[in-house]
Amino acid sequence: MSTNLPEFVPPGTMEVLFSKEQIAERVRALGKEISEEYAGQAIVLIGVLKGAAIFLADLARSIEVDNTFDFVAVSSYGRARVSSGAVKLIKDIDNPIEGKHVILVEDILDTGLTLSYLRGLMLQHKPASLKIATCLDKPERRLVPIEADYVCFKIPNSFVIGYGMDYAERYRGVEDIRIMPENPPGH
Ligand code: IMP
Repeated sequence: MSTNLPEFVPPGTMEVLFSKEQIAERVRALGKEISEEYAGQAIVLIGVLKGAAIFLADLARSIEVDNTFDFVAVSSYGRARVSSGAVKLIKDIDNPIEGKHVILVEDILDTGLTLSYLRGLMLQHKPASLKIATCLDKPERRLVPIEADYVCFKIPNSFVIGYGMDYAERYRGVEDIRIMPENPPGH
């Protein structure tokens, strides 16, 4: 774990990409879409820690069908996880999902390495169905072919923070989604 933290940039000085109101509106719309598609069924939301925690909390509260949630965590060595392509599970689901309707919930679909790894892993548990919800999608950065079923916003290739998303673990609690003035190394 590196102790050389980059300089703290006050989040209030960063450009807002999506305001908390815009985010809330899109999350509600996604919740409605999911509620309609799964009407009469029960679903399990599986959030990818830590980035998806806030999105999952809001999404779960806008879904009207029977739902439970669980979390997984994958290894992260700063941005090296993306450039090396090595993703490792460090926390598995707590409850079985065999025969259940599952939605994997992620903060950002970027290169696609994390979600394609997790999708493969979850499919081994034989869920009845498996879909993907992501708050943000950066299609330009994709290294492996994978698409999300539910997306709040498609964005170009800039590095963002807030609404659960971090840079060096900071800024997750920022309510809006904001653009880092400079892309971190390797991005
Ligand atoms: P990938 O799709 O495997 O490349 O990785 C997606 C993960 O990379 C996300 O869950 C985030 O944790 C992280 N990530 C990608 N782009 C950004 C960004 O702009 N800000 C913060 N985290 C990001």
